[in-house]
Amino acid sequence: MTVPEFQQQKKKKKLVVVTAYDALFTRIVEQAGIEAILVGDSLGVVVQGKRDTLSVTMEEMVYHTRLVVQGRQRALVIADMPFMSYQISVERAMQNAGRLIQAGAAAVKVEGGGDVVNRVRALTAAGIPVMGHLGMTPQSVNQFGGYTVQGREAAQAETFLTDAKALEQAGAFSLVLEAVPTALAQSITQAVSIPTIGIGAGPHCDGQVLVLYDLLGLFDEFVPKFVKPYAHLKADALQALRRFKEEVERRKFPTDVESYH
Ligand code: KIV
Repeated sequence: MTVPEFQQQKKKKKLVVVTAYDALFTRIVEQAGIEAILVGDSLGVVVQGKRDTLSVTMEEMVYHTRLVVQGRQRALVIADMPFMSYQISVERAMQNAGRLIQAGAAAVKVEGGGDVVNRVRALTAAGIPVMGHLGMTPQSVNQFGGYTVQGREAAQAETFLTDAKALEQAGAFSLVLEAVPTALAQSITQAVSIPTIGIGAGPHCDGQVLVLYDLLGLFDEFVPKFVKPYAHLKADALQALRRFKEEVERRKFPTDVESYH
């Protein structure tokens, strides 16, 4: 899938996006028919075991983007720009986005409105497609005081609506809306002509994204209200590992079947 194909899906077909961080899961995601993959900086939490995404580096994002691209056949790969890789200056944003594109991503994602708008304009002008991200933007967790719903108050909701239009004007090809009230997500979705991708933003967005390990039930340390686990892979993994341990200890594995003669 290309960026224009993704963009043209608005109002035609719901867009489905999941995160991936390596080649193995990228192949599984593609085999399930999912055509857009976000190399999210959520890897800081679900892969690296950190409390938040703030310490994820450009080197790590480039590495994981390469792994995903290695496993990808035709899905659109969007790479997150990590904290402080685009906030400092437009130049820094250009250099760092360029590294993710050179690692094989087709597009990058940046969080926020306001000051980020001129980064989006510059990157788009340089031929780098940009996905915006508004609402509960995890890189601003300290400003929000936690992972809480944003945009419940009229003033903040108005700011998000204005930011969404500004990001579209600046050239963003799509917008992630995270942890905002359903009605606000619906208003933003109606107000912009680019697809909105919701995560905790209700059913009216043009598509949905979830963190892969959340939807597979692999990561259960912090499960927000908006997560629906479609599988229970952590429970399955625990069961398999316990059985392996038990069978080795009881000398039931390996048997003749698993042995060479
Ligand atoms: O980092 C991430 O995985 C994300 C999604 C939750 C949208 O930004």
